[in-house]
Amino acid sequence: MTLKEKTAIVTGGSKGIGAAIARRLAHEGCAILVNYAGNAGAAEALAGEIRAGGGRAAAARADVGKPDGMDRLFDAAETAFGAVDILVNNAGIMRLSVLKDASDEDFEQQCAVNLGGTFRGMRAGASRLRDGGRIISLSSSVVGLYQSGYGIYAATKAAVEALTHVLAKELGPRGITVNAIAPGPVATEFFLDGKSDELVAAITRSIPLGRLADPEDIATAVAFLAGPDSGWINGQTIRANGGMV
Ligand SMILES: NC(=O)c1ccc[n+]([C@@H]2O[C@H](COP(=O)([O-])OP(=O)(O)OC[C@H]3O[C@@H](n4cnc5c(N)ncnc54)[C@H](OP(=O)(O)O)[C@@H]3O)[C@@H](O)[C@H]2O)c1
Repeated sequence: MTLKEKTAIVTGGSKGIGAAIARRLAHEGCAILVNYAGNAGAAEALAGEIRAGGGRAAAARADVGKPDGMDRLFDAAETAFGAVDILVNNAGIMRLSVLKDASDEDFEQQCAVNLGGTFRGMRAGASRLRDGGRIISLSSSVVGLYQSGYGIYAATKAAVEALTHVLAKELGPRGITVNAIAPGPVATEFFLDGKSDELVAAITRSIPLGRLADPEDIATAVAFLAGPDSGWINGQTIRANGGMV
């Protein structure tokens, strides 16, 4: 257990990659605030599963795209467990559309959740995380691929990477590291929804390691960045993508 006595907030922890991160950090001894937007049942079940295994966890609803979302999560975590050590900005949405057809709503929703939620999480974390803490934000490997249809989503994630690099410099003096993980395709609803079997197979063939990632592949990388062995890694984006360019 490398994270005993630590407390983490995992945004978007009710399913997918966030749920795997919550389980993994709890396994390392961390108290977890499992955030969700709509899926209370899944988030409460996960928190219950962690508690049943001897860990510490609570679920908290907050829309990270709303101005008060991240402050409310810090309030909830501090009330439940005391000061927070680790913030994982995982909650995210993707609305694919070629730019010609993209609506203002597509733009505003993705900016609000992916970029706004991460910005407000970082801002709250900068004043509320304990010294020596960690901020880990989810970007995406699509940032470097420039694929048709992914413009707005990739732009929000590129901005997350920019904030990561700047905040690493600002928080370095307090021993807080700030890094991003940029997964390639991960087998969650987020990636699989709306894609044909043929398209999923073609994307899988483009990954040198020959399979889609499981959420646990990403959780492992997050646990490393959250733990003591990554203390000298700061201001980096790790492309956890099986070698996909
Ligand atoms: N899957 C991939 O292939 C992939 C690749 C690269 C990067 N990523 C990034 O990894 C992160 C997690 O993706 P995933 O595949 O695990 O997605 P997912 O399975 O769709 O899960 C998304 C999670 O985010 C939560 N969420 C959505 N909007 C929210 C909001 N406004 N406020 C709070 N929580 C919100 C959802 O909560 P509710 O269910 O309660 O609504 C859910 O827990 C995202 O940032 C995504 O961009 C994913």
